[in-house]
Amino acid sequence: MTRINNNYLKLPGSYLFSNIAKKVNEFTAANPDKKIIRLGIGDVTRPLTPTIIRSLHDAVDEMADEKTFKGYAPDLGYSFLREAIARVDYKERGCDIAPDEIFVSDGAKCDSGNIQEIFSVDNKIAVCDPVYPVYVDSNVMAGRAGDYISSEERFSNVIYMPCTEDNGFAPEFPEETPDIIYLCFPNNPTGATVNKDALQKWVDYANKNGSVIIYDAAYEAYISEDDVPHSIYECTGAKTCAIELHSFSKNAGFTGVRLGYTVIPKELERDGVKLHSLWARRHSTKYNGAPYIVQKAGKAVYSPEGQNEIKGLVGYYMKNASYILNGLKEAGFTVSGGVNAPYIWLKTPQNMTSWDFFDHLLTKANVVGTPGSGFGPHGEGYFRLTAFGSYENTVEAVDRIKKL
Ligand code: MLT
Repeated sequence: MTRINNNYLKLPGSYLFSNIAKKVNEFTAANPDKKIIRLGIGDVTRPLTPTIIRSLHDAVDEMADEKTFKGYAPDLGYSFLREAIARVDYKERGCDIAPDEIFVSDGAKCDSGNIQEIFSVDNKIAVCDPVYPVYVDSNVMAGRAGDYISSEERFSNVIYMPCTEDNGFAPEFPEETPDIIYLCFPNNPTGATVNKDALQKWVDYANKNGSVIIYDAAYEAYISEDDVPHSIYECTGAKTCAIELHSFSKNAGFTGVRLGYTVIPKELERDGVKLHSLWARRHSTKYNGAPYIVQKAGKAVYSPEGQNEIKGLVGYYMKNASYILNGLKEAGFTVSGGVNAPYIWLKTPQNMTSWDFFDHLLTKANVVGTPGSGFGPHGEGYFRLTAFGSYENTVEAVDRIKKL
């Protein structure tokens, strides 16, 4: 008799964004005349830029010709893309990452969910609270998170590092030493960042304790302040303790195209084994690579024209971020984020719960956001808005919120 993976049953409810989509669909069905503005899920709305589109078209044409047709991609990604990543994202920033330490994938969400597989189920993870739900949920599925304590809305075997107004939404070292530490800066959902000294302290802490940091840098393109690191490898010693995840979704608009990469330096060893070799084995066994067409488009991101165009995209969204941040401040909300990140984190008014505020905003302003409590217990009483809408919709949404 087949048995299921019971760990899945420990997951409370559905995935946060599926839950929100369901609620919004129900509201839309009941109110077909209302114009809903979606500032919930961090999904981009601007089209791909011309250089990227040209590269996609060219690659499609190559697939139509037997002389240039491509079958399976190399396990770890095409070298043309890995070399471009190593040059622009690392070498030009003074980080020593080799192309063969880069694993190309179909996005950072999959990598952030799958990377835990190379670690023993006995490891204890630490996460920021609030947190991007994939880090916790994927460890629950693997049986590493313990049981769900519903009264506390947390898992018994996860170390939660509260990120609150008092600590500037930056985690502090936990009392218990974790084996695996998930960090994401600029942060999803709070939009907070840490400076290089603060990140260096985490690197030193991980090296001292033999922990591994899984560093999600999906939003690094949004950094506008000088002292905020774009990569954890800007810190001394990070190559012996950190894995870094990157996405093409937020900087280049690839949410529907799918491309990302993970860096595992060859120096990073635990139990005398290179983590690089484990992830390479996993990748080659379970994955056949991002499509050639998409990897070619990824390469175009690193061309001078591509880099200029994606700066324009990021600038577009950051103009929205400023509009939301300033508009909500004017309206009397307590807000943060939105300076180095496309997320604005606001305190719900009149002590409303996050979900009450979600309903209030949806029904009264027809604006969709994300309830902070969906990201963890310390997200309760907070709410996230994204800057990824169109400028016109963003302005209209803020105006509607101001009128509430
Ligand atoms: C979010 O809204 O938090 C992100 O879009 C989720 C993701 O990138 O998977």
